[in-house]
Amino acid sequence: MKNCVGQVVRGNDFWDRKIELETIWDAIDSGSHILLVAPRRVGKTSIMHKIKDEPKDGYIVIYIDTESADNENEFWHKLFNAMMEEDFINKLKSKSKVFYSKLINIKIKKVSAFGVEFEDGKTLDYAFAFETLVKDLDIDKKLIIMIDEFAQTIENIIKYEDVKNANSLLKAHRSLRQNPKVSEKVTFVYAGSIGLESVVSKINSIKIINDLNNVKILPLLKSEAYKFTNQLCSSVKIEMNKDAINYFLGKVEWLIPFYIQLLIQQLKILLREDRKRVIDNKAINEAIDKALEHRSYFESWQTKLRESFSNNEYLFVKEILNIISENNIMEYSQIINIATKHSLNEDEAKDMIHTLIYDGYINNNENPKVYRYNSPILRQWWNKNVAN
Ligand SMILES: Nc1ncnc2c1ncn2[C@@H]1O[C@H](COP(=O)(O)OP(=O)(O)O)[C@@H](O)[C@H]1O
Ligand SMILES: [Mg+2]
Repeated sequence: MKNCVGQVVRGNDFWDRKIELETIWDAIDSGSHILLVAPRRVGKTSIMHKIKDEPKDGYIVIYIDTESADNENEFWHKLFNAMMEEDFINKLKSKSKVFYSKLINIKIKKVSAFGVEFEDGKTLDYAFAFETLVKDLDIDKKLIIMIDEFAQTIENIIKYEDVKNANSLLKAHRSLRQNPKVSEKVTFVYAGSIGLESVVSKINSIKIINDLNNVKILPLLKSEAYKFTNQLCSSVKIEMNKDAINYFLGKVEWLIPFYIQLLIQQLKILLREDRKRVIDNKAINEAIDKALEHRSYFESWQTKLRESFSNNEYLFVKEILNIISENNIMEYSQIINIATKHSLNEDEAKDMIHTLIYDGYINNNENPKVYRYNSPILRQWWNKNVAN
């Protein structure tokens, strides 16, 4: 296992997430369509690639990332492209002869703003074309279509097209999921680093996704994080004793693989600079300070807020996060006072706080009226770079 920081991990570099994978496979086996729920950097995309690289018998997997799609047409383009892509078709050749022979006979000319044009001259609207394509596939395996950054796509469509198109894409998906002829052959797995629920509730369309089976991807348990840290240390050849690892994990607190990898990388650099040094609490604190200098790892936490909120909403959430980064905690009543200052009412403020929780910035787990950062590392970064 290499210490990969920030890229999607594959193969041996993937730390097994047994419980999550079993839950997802159970949900797939039971025939449900899935929404993977977790903030950015918790490991959704890595899990999706694991499913793609090592599917269970009887399944064929397509993975698409639709973050860059700004309109409905681009979204469908990506989906149809993935199904017609040489890599995928080649995989089918060995895995499912029936599927392969059906698919190569389907000739799509292009995916345009009007729908999908087939070579025989027919043009069908996107969802209908997809349905027709899937219905006709007399396949011997079930297709899993994983759509990463789906919420971002919906947000883009709201921003660059309009709410109507966003709703039409959401509705098209719902009707595909509810069509037994499609559902018996296809499972959809959606994911995204911003909450689909918050994006969809902004346009009052939460009902359109209430059929999805939500599977939460959580940070690692302490015992798992301990083993993960140990294994990474031995792979990069640094030694940390039990007390040091416990101190280290206490500092990371929000135990997602990413922060553990990032700090191990920094510790390795510190050791390289000073050969004799052992890893003690001081070295761990230094590694955290160094890690915070990597702007690119943290900046998206700020830019995403700026992009998805209007100006006064953004100034409101920024102020809240600034204050929590300074004082560690913040009470609900204080938050509401600040909302008033930014001309937001209590319901609007609540929705935004909900988004901050959902997207992994803060939580109120210990006390429903008190908010704090999930990650002390993000808190420190925010405090240094945004609040001050
Ligand atoms: N199972 C895992 N094993 C090892 N590293 C992981 C794992 N999951 C996530 N990571 C690390 O965390 C980073 C973010 O993971 P990613 O799958 O991109 O998260 P998400 O899609 O939720 O934003 C990866 O680049 C990798 O460094
Ligand atoms: Mg991802």
